[in-house]
Amino acid sequence: MAPRLSDVLGLFSPFKGKTQPLPAPIAPEVTKPFNLDSIVPVSDYVCPPELERQHHSSLRDWVKAHLDNPAFNDLEDRLWATPKDSTISAAERAFLYNFMREMKAKNTLEIGTFTAGTTLLMACAAYQDSGRVYTIDPYGADRAPGLIAAWPKELGDCVVFQPKYSTKFLDPLSNNPRFDLVFIDGNHRYPNVLHDLYASDETLAPGGIIIGDNAEQLGVMDACRHFLRDNEGYEGVAVHLTLPVPGSREVGKDIDSELRPRGARSAFVILRKPDRLFLHDKTLTFWVANITELAAPVISISGVSERDAEIQVVTHLVSHPRDGNNPSPQSHQFVESFTVSGAFSLEIDSRLELSSEAECQVNFADIALYRTSGDGLISDLRVMWGDTELLPNSNFLPS
Ligand SMILES: C[S@@+](CC[C@H](N)C(=O)[O-])C[C@H]1O[C@@H](n2cnc3c(N)ncnc32)[C@H](O)[C@@H]1O
Repeated sequence: MAPRLSDVLGLFSPFKGKTQPLPAPIAPEVTKPFNLDSIVPVSDYVCPPELERQHHSSLRDWVKAHLDNPAFNDLEDRLWATPKDSTISAAERAFLYNFMREMKAKNTLEIGTFTAGTTLLMACAAYQDSGRVYTIDPYGADRAPGLIAAWPKELGDCVVFQPKYSTKFLDPLSNNPRFDLVFIDGNHRYPNVLHDLYASDETLAPGGIIIGDNAEQLGVMDACRHFLRDNEGYEGVAVHLTLPVPGSREVGKDIDSELRPRGARSAFVILRKPDRLFLHDKTLTFWVANITELAAPVISISGVSERDAEIQVVTHLVSHPRDGNNPSPQSHQFVESFTVSGAFSLEIDSRLELSSEAECQVNFADIALYRTSGDGLISDLRVMWGDTELLPNSNFLPS
């Protein structure tokens, strides 16, 4: 069932009671010992193991368990004044760091590097879990590389900086890794945040997390609401994590009950992608591009339908014949309906659909899947293009 907006954006107190290939993830090689605590005092911090159990509960409970945990306050204390160039609050730093460590995030993206203070914090988390932080800022070319180069090499090696707009970096053709966590902190206007949410979703691993900063700003807040409305299965919560006021540790430890602009108070919005693919009221769309070797394959779809339902699959292929005599691309569209009930598995042999053109080279394909009758949930969907599993909206076979 689609989450109700009031459920997903309701707030609780965080202080209750208080086109260039990118390098693969690395296991950082420690070439010389360095004292992580002299950089960011986190090396002996252990993310509380009891949070593991919360991981699979609702996002709200999971977030709440983090914030209610005494270790969170301990971490916030450590991060009160460091990293000094980070523009987010100590509580936000603690939250972001804690989430990364607990998820053992391998690939993380920060949209908006600025002075790389938060990047340093993220690098410390990534360093300890053999992960990598990608960070992008179109205005950072003269600033960020020098700042990162001044860190210990081991931390710098965990970071990939690119002076790019998120629109450019998250272009589906850029062959990015699947990210476990994306921290959106770039341009806070509504259309930009909406883009960053949708584009992040396309590259986010199932069950992955998006954290958006400054959800107290109208552009960010409205974009998050829009995105949640449109993306069934995503969970979302927002927490006020106030900007630090030097010398005043207590500021922000109050109870806010709504996501509204509140002066300097800063809020994170946290979104979690569903870890399984399902079909409900929205059409699922897949795009397969970058196809160099495959002829049209068998498309197989499996899942579990709660009730009897009919689904329709619309496949659109653009191809050209392999013999090269007629180089003009041709387009083929075919529609097939299936009645499904319980566990099901079905196949569409797109080679047959191309009939005499079975020797076609397919250039790209659109596949749309939607339910035409029945009202139950169709879950655990798997859509295969030959041997390759497709995820919605962004599917590019490696060239
Ligand atoms: C609020 S600052 C980021 C602060 C940083 N994340 C931190 O926590 O310290 C916003 C940064 O986003 C960058 N920015 C603006 N539009 C962007 C975009 N479309 N893609 C990536 N970065 C963008 C700006 O140049 C600016 O440096």
